[in-house]
Amino acid sequence: MIRYIENFPLQHHITFGTPANAKYFFEFTEVGDLQELIQSRPLGEFGPVLVLGGGSNLLFVSDFDGLVIYPNIPGIVPEKEDASHVWVRAGAGVEWDDFVAFSVNKGWGGIENLSLIPGKVGAAPVQNIGAYGQEAADTIESVCGIDLRTGEEWEISAPDCRFAYRNSIFKQELKGKFLVTSVLFKLKKFPQLNLSYDGVARMLEGLAEPTISDVRNVIVDIRRSKLPDPAIIGNAGSFFKNPVVNADLASRLAEIHPGMPQYMVSDPGKVKLSAGWLIDQCGWKGATRGGAGVHERHALVLVNRGEATGKEIYGLSEEIRKSVLERFGVSLEREVLVIGSQGPLE
Ligand code: EPU
Repeated sequence: MIRYIENFPLQHHITFGTPANAKYFFEFTEVGDLQELIQSRPLGEFGPVLVLGGGSNLLFVSDFDGLVIYPNIPGIVPEKEDASHVWVRAGAGVEWDDFVAFSVNKGWGGIENLSLIPGKVGAAPVQNIGAYGQEAADTIESVCGIDLRTGEEWEISAPDCRFAYRNSIFKQELKGKFLVTSVLFKLKKFPQLNLSYDGVARMLEGLAEPTISDVRNVIVDIRRSKLPDPAIIGNAGSFFKNPVVNADLASRLAEIHPGMPQYMVSDPGKVKLSAGWLIDQCGWKGATRGGAGVHERHALVLVNRGEATGKEIYGLSEEIRKSVLERFGVSLEREVLVIGSQGPLE
């Protein structure tokens, strides 16, 4: 199935729910559909190109003067198994949480802590989605996709995806050049629970032998209790990444602010801080600027209170960034991709 529409309204395709039009919009369900389009007309002729997944990580600050491609490829297919693992391929257009639910129901572990993350399977490797001690990279075996310049199909193995915290080759060298069509996951038949996140272990305390299904339920509860549902109030989850700073800055900050959460990272010279805490300390929780706001229960989540424009939300985010920089000397980096008429703003 393909759908090609000019001047397409994106509002209901992005979880912020802000108004923006795409000059061209192309939706497809089979890899060959996109290859045909590329063969009939080089995509560059449409102007800038943007791949849309669940729209849960995008903020449009204007209309988009190019082509939005929407890979709506379905399918969850177990491909092979051995004594301890099963390899499952999921299409880029599958709702991420439907894939998690499917795997948990089968008893296959490795992604249960990523329950209820909004978005599609195709976006999971791009930003290496992560939560509660798990990352998509922990279970991805390979990623299939299309070279947008030639239409050629590639399979990229996990080490070549260069996964890092909320990062991958798809956000770097392959940005704008590659479209994910499916992802192959290696899931565990006898999963070990990952209870590294404090709140999860605590909520499972009463259970003698918790399963991944219990973990999923607890994570769904935690997320529902502190993160707003985009179906009810527009948002894109964490707006900023947690900043990783030099250890000496972190220890100076810890002296001044004894309650500041700090986390170890693999590099011993660096420390991860909590963007939500920093923003909260600057007094932003619950703030409102026109239609834009900061969520009442989590300062890292910016929200559309109803009639916000992308520009308003962006303006609020820049004010927040400035105040955190002034107060703590820490520069916040956006997790959300801000899109202008020609594509992502740096
Ligand atoms: N905190 C505050 N005030 C706030 C928010 C948080 O003081 O308004 C403090 C918390 O009390 C806690 C610390 O900040 O001590 C961390 O907060 P939380 O546990 O909620 O996690 P986070 O670091 O803010 C990250 C991810 C989330 C993911 C959670 C759980 C990033 C940018 N965000 O948030 O991911 O769900 O951990 O693992 O890494 C997302 O990417 O959209 C997202 C929601």
